[in-house]
Amino acid sequence: MRFCMELVEKIDRFKRERNAVILVHNYQIPEVQDIADYVGDSLGLSIQASKTSADVIVFCGVYFMAETAKILSPEKIVLIPDRKAGCPMADMISADQLRKLKEEHPRAKVLCYVNTTAEVKSECDVCCTSGNAERIVLEAFQDEDEIIFVPDQYLAEYISTKAGRDFITWKGYCPTHVKILPEDIERKRDLHVNAEVIVHPECTPGVTRLADRVLSTEGMCRYAREADVQEFVVGTEVGILHRLKKENPDKYFYPASERAVCPNMKLTTLEKVLWSLEEMQHEVTVPPEIIQKAKRSLQIMLDH
Ligand code: 13P
Ligand code: SF4
Repeated sequence: MRFCMELVEKIDRFKRERNAVILVHNYQIPEVQDIADYVGDSLGLSIQASKTSADVIVFCGVYFMAETAKILSPEKIVLIPDRKAGCPMADMISADQLRKLKEEHPRAKVLCYVNTTAEVKSECDVCCTSGNAERIVLEAFQDEDEIIFVPDQYLAEYISTKAGRDFITWKGYCPTHVKILPEDIERKRDLHVNAEVIVHPECTPGVTRLADRVLSTEGMCRYAREADVQEFVVGTEVGILHRLKKENPDKYFYPASERAVCPNMKLTTLEKVLWSLEEMQHEVTVPPEIIQKAKRSLQIMLDH
C-alpha cells in the first residue's frame, strides 16, 4: 500500500513537470484507473485527446487508441507505457487487405471501427466506435448504396440489425468478447433474477440477442448510474467492474464471464506509467501522410 502511494506521488510529480495528462481506458487495472485524469471508452478518449492542452499524453489502453490520440493531436508527445499492448482485433485486417476489398467493391464507402491501425484508418472514409456506430451509419452513410464495415463482424451484424442496413464485412472479432457465451448469460440470469443484462456489441449475436441492453463501455457506466436498477450482469471485459462498483457503491455488478479478460489491457501497471513519464518512453509515432488521411475519417466521426 505504502509502495503504491509512493508510486502515485512520483507519477504526480512527473506529470506536473512534463505537463502531461493520463488517459485511461475502462478495461485497465484498478490502480491505473485510479490515477487517471480521464477514464472512458474509445470515443471519450478520442475526444479528450483532441482537446487537451497538455504537452504529453500518457495513454493507458491499447496501441490503436494511442495512435488515435497521436492522429488527433499530432503536435503532442503521445506515450504508451507498454509498447506490446496491442489489440488482436485491430491486427486482423491490414491496409493491403482493405485496399483489395475496396478494389472488389469500387462503389462502396468504407466505415471502419476505431479498433484498426492508423494505416487502415487512412484507407477508410469514416471511423466509428461502439458508442456511435449506429448514429454514424444513419447520418453519414444515408445516401450510400454499398457500405464496407471492417473489421468486427459481430459489431457489423449488430449495427446492421439496428440501422436496417447491409454491410460488406470482414471476419474480424475480439478474442476476449467471444469468450462470453450464451450459456453464461443464461446461468447468470438464473443466479441473479433481478439483474439487468448489459453487454458490449463486440459480443457474438447469440449473446447480444439475450441481453436487455447493448452498450459501449461508457454507455454501460452511464446507464448503471442513471437507471433505477440495482443489479447488473455485465457482458464485457471484466476491468470495467472496478469503475462500475466505484461509481455505484450501493449497486451490484456481476461479470457475465470471469474469462472475459483482455491480456493486452492488463499490461499497463503503475510502475510502467512512472517509467513512461520519467524516461518519456514509448513514444507513439505515425507517418505525417498517414496522419493527414486518417485524421479526416476520425474528424468526420467527431463532427457527428
Ligand atoms: P469501447 O469503445 O466501448 O470502450 O470498446 C473498446 C474496446 O476495445 C472494446 O473491446
Ligand atoms: Fe481489442 Fe478485444 Fe482487447 Fe478490446 S477487449 S482491446 S477489442 S482484444
